Amino acid sequence: MERSSLTIVLAAGDGTRMRSSLPKVLNPIAGQPMLAHVLASVPPGNNSAVAVVVAPHHQAVTDVVRRLRPDASIFVQGERLGTAHAVLQAADAIAAGVDDVLVVFGDTPLISASTLERLRTPLAQGAAVVVLGFQAAVPTGYGRLIMEGDQLAAIREEIDASPLERMITLCNAGVMALDGRAALNLLRRIGNGNAKGEYYLVDAVEIARQLELKTSVVETTEDEVRGINTKAQLAEAEAAMQRKLREAAMAEGVTLVAPETIYLAADTKFGKDVTVEPFVVFGPGVSVGDGAVIRSFSHIAEASIGKKAIVGPYARLRPGAMLGENVHIGNFVEVKATTIGAGAKANHLAYLGDAHIGANVNIGAGTITCNYDGFDKYRTEIGAGAFIGSNSALVAPIKIGEGAYIGSGSVVTKDVPDNALALERSGQTVKPGWAQRFREMKLRGRGQR
Ligand code: UD1
Ligand code: MG
Repeated sequence: MERSSLTIVLAAGDGTRMRSSLPKVLNPIAGQPMLAHVLASVPPGNNSAVAVVVAPHHQAVTDVVRRLRPDASIFVQGERLGTAHAVLQAADAIAAGVDDVLVVFGDTPLISASTLERLRTPLAQGAAVVVLGFQAAVPTGYGRLIMEGDQLAAIREEIDASPLERMITLCNAGVMALDGRAALNLLRRIGNGNAKGEYYLVDAVEIARQLELKTSVVETTEDEVRGINTKAQLAEAEAAMQRKLREAAMAEGVTLVAPETIYLAADTKFGKDVTVEPFVVFGPGVSVGDGAVIRSFSHIAEASIGKKAIVGPYARLRPGAMLGENVHIGNFVEVKATTIGAGAKANHLAYLGDAHIGANVNIGAGTITCNYDGFDKYRTEIGAGAFIGSNSALVAPIKIGEGAYIGSGSVVTKDVPDNALALERSGQTVKPGWAQRFREMKLRGRGQR
């Protein structure tokens, strides 16, 4: 039988050192709140429950949890009395009965599902407490793991540690796995008689040893368990995550011409044979079809790009941009909430918003869908095969029929039937020989001075 798990995410911290009004765990990494990355590491399957411990004034955190993990139970920690106190807020979820209890921190977003899985193995073999450890380059600030052979004897927090204990570089990552049957008993025995007067989760180790239960350590790399307390650490975690995402994209066969200049979101999806030129930013919710080429300096978010489409250089695809197969979006073209049919082209300088554009439409340079009157947004429909001349303003709501032509420079305010020409511009005046006479007059004037 597969073992059941309860993952408890501690997310009640304010993150004072972030100097941000945003709760710490909502700061984004690779286009998603930190907390989303942590939730993504939770064991998959029906046998896996989640509890999140939040602060009373962090409604926004609760909202994100409800959106990402509707099945999660949410517990409010009224006062921050320490990590063990935080875990005990979820006592009801533990008491419901579960094989493995996993405790993770909401501010440790690079943790992987496979590492959490590795922590569960010793539990299955009879350990009561398993701690995730790592060799810290600079151990200052971390709890130190005090070993006796292969057994973990205790974890000592920095401020409670002796000078000798402070020399230890094997540190506590903060992730802990507890035997579900022993967990509540261990947690409830934890006191607050330490330098900070807090209920330390790490004391579960020493208590387990006193009760003659088995404890052990699973090691991982420092990179994976970097905690985030400052904006500088947030940037380091972003960089580490970007390296990981770029490598994964290339492993899947995406050509990243200059990988270090590409910014990906954790959920960016690529088809086969996609090429991404240097300096492209992918926000969340982007999918790119087979054979598409994304040219330099494009910015893309919540958009889907069809097979063999060409986007950029300097294109901006905003939320709701849906490009069909072979669509070309060129330089300085902005697309928002617009579906563009197969083979359509908008190669230069255009704004296409709240529109439906049929297959094989040609959008001339300088075309603008005028979708906003200062109060409301309106839609533009352009039928298949239509040709929109350069510098046209299409004042929505408006419908341009299939195969219609719009003369360059027109401000179109009325619907245009299929295959019609719409032209809105003043008649042209031509004065033969005027320019020559003008020049001669000017030059005569100069000569006389
Ligand atoms: C903790 C560990 C330390 C470990 C380090 C790794 C303890 C006592 N110490 O120290 O051994 O090396 O993490 O980064 O566990 N939280 C609550 N409620 C509370 C207190 C904390 O939700 O009452 C949350 C925080 O928001 C944070 C996490 O628990 O996400 C860890 O708390 P923090 O105060 O950062 O502990 P550290 O001092 O970093
Ligand atoms: Mg911390």
